[in-house]
Amino acid sequence: MFVFTDENLKKIEALQKRYPSPKALTLPLLWMVQYQEKVISLEAIEVIAKLIDTPPMEIYRVATFYTMFNLERVGKYHVQLCKTLSCALCGKAEILEHLEAKLGIVPGESSEDGRYTLTQVECLGSCGTAPVMQINDVYYENLTDDKIDAILEELR
Ligand code: FES
Repeated sequence: MFVFTDENLKKIEALQKRYPSPKALTLPLLWMVQYQEKVISLEAIEVIAKLIDTPPMEIYRVATFYTMFNLERVGKYHVQLCKTLSCALCGKAEILEHLEAKLGIVPGESSEDGRYTLTQVECLGSCGTAPVMQINDVYYENLTDDKIDAILEELR
């Protein structure tokens, strides 16, 4: 059963005072669930819906519209490689091949040990430093095979 932690309940209380309408808490609460659980379950969506007095389907629609919300569990390190134009022109395909070889998974998969999930995503908004990937909340830019080796080594 999903429940917010006591710490998050305090944060929610503070947010409720700050936001003009309960529905405005939809995105902050989805983020909170994701940081707490690493995944947004249907149960959590129902808890949010109750908290902000909104039909669960509306929360679900928001959660499924934004690709940064994980409706399925991801690994400890969620590797998101940008596949959009600038990154594609700057070697995304080679970077992806290297990542696949290093991690032993293809986009949409998680490693057996649960450490990595590899995903291809749309523009990360850092086109000037393409190719770009995001691991959890950190951006890695101007990627090369050597840089990826160093980044993955640091995560060990
Ligand atoms: S195209 Fe990759 S960050 Fe914009």
